[in-house]
Amino acid sequence: MRLKDKVAIITGAANGIGLAAAEVFAREGAKVALADFNEQQGIESTNLLKEKGYDVAFFQVNVAERESVNSMVSDVLETFGRIDILVNNAGITKDGMLSKLSVEDFQKVIDVNLTGVFHCTQAVLPAMVEQGKGKIISTSSVSGVYGNVGQTNYAATKAGVIGMTKTWAKELGRKGINVNAVAPGFIETGMTAKVPDKILDQMKMMVPLGRLGIPEDIANAYLFLASEESNYVNGTVLHVDGGIMM
Ligand code: CAA
Ligand code: NAI
Repeated sequence: MRLKDKVAIITGAANGIGLAAAEVFAREGAKVALADFNEQQGIESTNLLKEKGYDVAFFQVNVAERESVNSMVSDVLETFGRIDILVNNAGITKDGMLSKLSVEDFQKVIDVNLTGVFHCTQAVLPAMVEQGKGKIISTSSVSGVYGNVGQTNYAATKAGVIGMTKTWAKELGRKGINVNAVAPGFIETGMTAKVPDKILDQMKMMVPLGRLGIPEDIANAYLFLASEESNYVNGTVLHVDGGIMM
């Protein structure tokens, strides 16, 4: 088991990539805190994992709000006693062409995808520093690396995640904390289900592997960066996109 007795917080774990990661981490022996805004879906997903015999618990959180994040982190510490791994996976889209994008939709995406990553990372930091060890993984995107039509707000946040990752890798390395990012391509989840078929087909055509990704493709990358196998990997952006852009 690659994460035996480690405690992991995965944000946005009620659905999609985060849920797949929760299952992969639990299968590898981790105690997993599924943290999500969507309480109903979060409890349902957590119960499914519990039925499989995994040591998991659900924590309701809005990553965009500092107080909510602080109370989630202290609840996780109370339940599991430590925090070894944080996966900053929660994210939203509010797509629109620059000419039509509202200030509100720009700001909402910044609040969740960028400020949310800042809040969660800052909140787990004292526990990790005290332990002298930790793994922080944040989710960027192909859109943050190369830009994407209709995603001014989202691309800005996902590029921002890379900047924060590299900064934190430099600041926290000597404290025994590895900080890395994963940049997925187009992955089959609720998020891409909203994209017009015509555009998804275009994206698929661009992938040399000839398919969109599945949540487990990203969960396995998170697993590598959360495990001891990546102990000398720090400040990197792992591209898991089937080679969509090269
Ligand atoms: N490449 C080039 N041109 C594009 C394009 C693309 N990918 N997408 C749209 N356009 C063009 C259209 O052809 C159109 O051109 P004309 O004006 O010459 O006809 C113009 O841009 C406007 O497009 P729409 O008519 O679609 O404009 P709209 O205002 O109705 O909708 C939109 C805009 C909401 C952004 C819509 O195009 C859309 O949903 N696009 C998909 C955006 C996308 O890829 N989102 C990814 C979500 S998944 C995700 O974010 C995960 C991840 O990390 C990758
Ligand atoms: P999803 O929409 O299936 O799941 C996202 C989860 O985040 C949901 O359960 C939602 O309730 C939760 N969430 C949203 N706002 C929240 C908040 N304020 N606080 C706490 N939880 C919140 O999306 P998916 O596809 O699983 O995305 C996971 C991550 O991967 C996101 O950061 C996304 O931007 C990123 N990503 C996704 C890609 C894709 O193609 N699906 C590609 C590249 C990156």
